Amino acid sequence: MAAMFVVEPSPAVADPMPLKTLAAAARDGDGIKIGSAIRSTVIDPDSDGDETYEQRAAAEFSLIASENDLIWEVTEPTEPTREGGEWVHNYAWDRAEEVVDFAERNGQTVIGHHLVWHSSVPGWWDRIPGPDGKPIPNPQAYTPQVVREFLQDRVEDTVNRFEGRIGYWSVVNEVLAENGSWRPSIWQRAYPNPVPDSYGYIADSFRWAHAADANAKLYINEYGVEGNTAKARALYDLVKRLRDDDVPIHGVGFQTHRKLTDGLAGFADMLRRFADLGVEVYITEMDVRIHDTAASGVELLQQAEVYGRAVRACLDVVACKFINLWGFTDAHSWIGTVFHIGWGRATVLTDTLAAKPAYHRIAAELADWTAPLQNMAGWWRLDDWATPDDADVVASDVSGHGRPAAVAAAALGHEGRMPGYTAFRGNGVTTQATTTGPVLQTSQPFTVSAWVSLTDTTRDQVVVSQDAATRTAFSLGFDFASQKWYFSMADAYAQGPGFYRVLSTTAPQPGAWTHVTGVWNRTWGRLVLYVNGRLNAAVAPPTSFLPWASTGALRIGAAMNGRHLAGSISDVRAYQRVLPDAEVLDATKLGHFGLDGQTGDTSFFLRDGSPRPEVTHWLGTPGQIPTALRLTGGTTNPERIEAVAIDVRPQVLRTDRSYSVSAWVNLDADGDGAIDSAGDMVAVGQDGIHRSAFRLGVRGGKWAFAVPSADANVMTMQVVSGDTAAAGWTHLVGVYDAEARQIRLYVNNVAQTPLADVTSWASASNLHLGQALDGPRWVGGIDDVRLYQTPLSLNEINLIPDRS
Ligand code: XIL
Repeated sequence: MAAMFVVEPSPAVADPMPLKTLAAAARDGDGIKIGSAIRSTVIDPDSDGDETYEQRAAAEFSLIASENDLIWEVTEPTEPTREGGEWVHNYAWDRAEEVVDFAERNGQTVIGHHLVWHSSVPGWWDRIPGPDGKPIPNPQAYTPQVVREFLQDRVEDTVNRFEGRIGYWSVVNEVLAENGSWRPSIWQRAYPNPVPDSYGYIADSFRWAHAADANAKLYINEYGVEGNTAKARALYDLVKRLRDDDVPIHGVGFQTHRKLTDGLAGFADMLRRFADLGVEVYITEMDVRIHDTAASGVELLQQAEVYGRAVRACLDVVACKFINLWGFTDAHSWIGTVFHIGWGRATVLTDTLAAKPAYHRIAAELADWTAPLQNMAGWWRLDDWATPDDADVVASDVSGHGRPAAVAAAALGHEGRMPGYTAFRGNGVTTQATTTGPVLQTSQPFTVSAWVSLTDTTRDQVVVSQDAATRTAFSLGFDFASQKWYFSMADAYAQGPGFYRVLSTTAPQPGAWTHVTGVWNRTWGRLVLYVNGRLNAAVAPPTSFLPWASTGALRIGAAMNGRHLAGSISDVRAYQRVLPDAEVLDATKLGHFGLDGQTGDTSFFLRDGSPRPEVTHWLGTPGQIPTALRLTGGTTNPERIEAVAIDVRPQVLRTDRSYSVSAWVNLDADGDGAIDSAGDMVAVGQDGIHRSAFRLGVRGGKWAFAVPSADANVMTMQVVSGDTAAAGWTHLVGVYDAEARQIRLYVNNVAQTPLADVTSWASASNLHLGQALDGPRWVGGIDDVRLYQTPLSLNEINLIPDRS
């Protein structure tokens, strides 16, 4: 048996440096706020308040949110009456006052939660059975006119009452359904003009709140928008529309109620997309629920990792101004009480206020943060969301440098590299994305890369360029005369041709997504071109060459003098340094599962990897973040899927084209040094309808890469290792080389005898770690899985880093 280990929360001693002090000093001294939701019932100063709770809330946080004490059903428990044409409200502010007083006593900023929310309609409202039989507020209880009057009074009276005392208001909460449509509510139904556009009540609420307190920061709050979801895209469109219409909205709140398997890999990107609309962004209700029966410490460590990622994402994005926790102790958390039964322990302190790993992780992230990706000068994913009628939108720069590119002619939002992702599409005439100033110093070494798919090979086209005063300083693109990719730099002396360039040795394949990289390697004195992560050609300009200093914009999909690209562009990156071969290759990955306590993908695509069923087993040193996935055969019934396989949707690779799959595997599941199952097992596979298009793993006791020749009950082509599969970590790489019609297998970077005359087919279903559609599950360890859409050579396989 593998050693079981338990991470004990640290004893409840006062921690030396409270979170608020660390947060104030974070981000190189610019500081953010850190807070928690609190409950009036627990801080009651006169009677039964919990003093330890109060002391801790005062000591740790610079921000306090009212968990439930400002919602409408609490502040207006009895029905208003009508006198002289006006509503007379019977407000109850005592609970809210307790929270605001508490914060004022402790010098804390207050977040008011929430002015308008479908779910906090007072009990005096007539109720009818909802779709699931539970009573919901009857929309017909009052006329639409009265509902709008209630809304205005609720917003104005509440904000007025606390004018100058509440710093942030969650103005409208959860107005969208999961699929991005409007969530039905009494408010939405009372604004029938035009049905079913709910925009009106949202815009009105912000305007009324702003009129009542011009100094409060007003935000829209939502859950399930931390990743690229339908709801997140709808929220983006809504916020953009509110901004375009000059509605006083200052921020977007990401609730961030998470569980372990949700990951948070793309969270910083998401925060940046919204920030590029000109709003602040906030983490407003963070907690990370784990199983309430979880006995081992692994879940606490993974929980710490999720908290840590959120803190880092916020610090990475300058527009992120606070992190608010939804409760700070398991003694008073909404998780596992009425909501999320079977879950619990979601906060950073135990119910006796001992610090969990999550607490220490937040502290460490706040203390240790350094500006991200300093070695990157700009990074435009180009999968930003554009509303269809947008002529000009912004492509976010996710490098952390804040260099967004203005996109002309609705070039964003088109078909991307994978189902579910979008890309820039050039029309060859007017499309481009342009930064406001230079990104790269062209006199210094630099690297620029992009994914491109050309549709027109009848003229010169530019993928990326940067302007000098009167001409283009560098450009990367397609050269019509030679039918090759090129990378070119202008010479300031303008003798000879006026520029130098390197042409690829291979011709672009129209319609195929290709990764191209141009490097100005000044020390080596070469212009270098990589195609699909592979060094393709290099050219040495004469020693007199002096690159034109670039003072103008970086352009995507065009140059100063036109040459607009017809085709698609994705994932443009710029670096003020020479990228080594290993890093160029790394940027071409289509999937990367580090499996360090997280099941998600950290490549460009940031896919969630969902464990099946939701129990994840890990390998690692006690007290540390797990370092690999562990799959067991199941204790009682080896056929039962009780351990884990990770499903990744949609497909990752085009298996009808060349590709490579790299994985570290271990046949010892329980850590006793012996093989636990010597049969046929699959570590990585991608499904078709009837078969998996490839299976990397073990067959007949040997390492194997197997490819069935069709998605049917046909023969499987396979390469197996010369040696028998043994225990210990082993690096496997399976390669399908479509041009050579070959499959290859490398074991610990040693080529095994390849198999010829192999063809493959397109499989468009899930990728799995630990099983395949038509193969037995893996028993043992799996780590650091990488997928590439190119047939890697042994040299390139040697560039893949060892498992971390
Ligand atoms: C929750 C509170 O924490 C619970 O005490 C209450 O019973 C229900 O509401 N999203 C929100 C919060 O915006 O207001 C919710 O708070 C949690 C989900």
